[in-house]
Amino acid sequence: MSPTLVETSLPPVDTGRLTHLLTEFAGYSETTHGVTRLAYTPLERGAHRMFTDELSALGLHTWTDAAGNSYAEIAGGGPARAIGTGSHLDTVPNAGRFDGIAGVVAAMEVARILVESDARHTHPIRFVAFAGEEGARFGQACTGSRIAAGLLDSPDLADLRDTRGVSVADAMRSVGLDPDRVSEARWSTDDWAAFVELHIEQGNVLEAQAIPVGIVELISGSTRLRLDLHGRASHTGGTPMHQRADAMTAAAEITLLAEEIATDARHHGTRATVGRLELEPGSITTIPGTARLYVDIRDVDSDRQRMTAVELMNGARSICERRGLTLDIETLGDTSPVVLPVWLRRKIADVCTTTGTRYRVLPSGASHDSQMINKVVPAGMIFVPSRNGLSHVPDEWTSVEDLAVGTDLLARSLLALDRELDSGTTAEATC
Ligand code: GLV
Ligand code: MN
Ligand code: MN
Repeated sequence: MSPTLVETSLPPVDTGRLTHLLTEFAGYSETTHGVTRLAYTPLERGAHRMFTDELSALGLHTWTDAAGNSYAEIAGGGPARAIGTGSHLDTVPNAGRFDGIAGVVAAMEVARILVESDARHTHPIRFVAFAGEEGARFGQACTGSRIAAGLLDSPDLADLRDTRGVSVADAMRSVGLDPDRVSEARWSTDDWAAFVELHIEQGNVLEAQAIPVGIVELISGSTRLRLDLHGRASHTGGTPMHQRADAMTAAAEITLLAEEIATDARHHGTRATVGRLELEPGSITTIPGTARLYVDIRDVDSDRQRMTAVELMNGARSICERRGLTLDIETLGDTSPVVLPVWLRRKIADVCTTTGTRYRVLPSGASHDSQMINKVVPAGMIFVPSRNGLSHVPDEWTSVEDLAVGTDLLARSLLALDRELDSGTTAEATC
């Protein structure tokens, strides 16, 4: 393989600008304690408009596709497929300001650097803000990127619903998008050559080892289940303990079972979580008659991920039977782990070696848009450290200095890919 050419004359990343953009995006929130900007809401759309407004002010051509993914492009110097970067702008409830947004802000700063330095590149460089990455609202994650990868189409959007019964399709319509035309949002390899996403680590490996950047080798899969337990509501004082069909105690037992399964030696690396529990009727003086549990099972091993789900479902059935309850189970989402292309990882690693940036190759426990995009266009991921490993909470934090190191690596990686992809001596052909 030819040595990786690294652009030496790029201007430095502007940390003030990173801070400014992060602060502005955080303003699009329905909560003041932590950021809440759910998928396909006016707030998410507002953040997307800020993205396109900022980049069109820089002189880039911008547009939004039928799935609500937003784009900006710097034209290349010749006819070639695009190289892209970006991440998502929606959040979970009471989130921090970095998950997804850090990657969008890094992309926007790369755009500024390329424009202001008048950097030469053959491929068009595209900047992307994906819609609806977090599964927090509809259960299944990565709506916008799944659509782009051709993994989700119009009929599916009527079936996926939030906890208030609003379908993705209706949510999209309510913010002016057209769910019947999402097939137009598909990416293809005729148009795209590669994609690199910067994201916060959401774990503490980089911080613990004082390493500034991570290169992601694989992204965990996730199986998401909804368990509806139907017991018998009755008076907390009048009903003897042995005559109960208490949905809450069954739910508690299932929650402990999830922990137990994921903690045994065979499951080293599995993560099973009951992240949401709803009880009815929800009165201190009434035994809960129904319980609804939302379970998220993550694993880097797809067989083990599915086996864990089966073990938990079987265990939940036994618990309900023993306690005199009935159980309905629905699978809300099931995404396999993804190994990212070795040649693209090596390309980013080569840039690190050339610039003297220390890095570590690591897996991702979280899901990402790149997991979907890689089904259709080769994708790579750069991680930057998360303080105390925290994410999906208001205390989520990454220093702008760390984000700047990742952003510089991102800019140089995109330009290195530009030099080598489609050149006849491409990195992907040699690995
Ligand atoms: C996506 O953000 C996830 O929760 O992994
Ligand atoms: Mn994310
Ligand atoms: Mn997230």
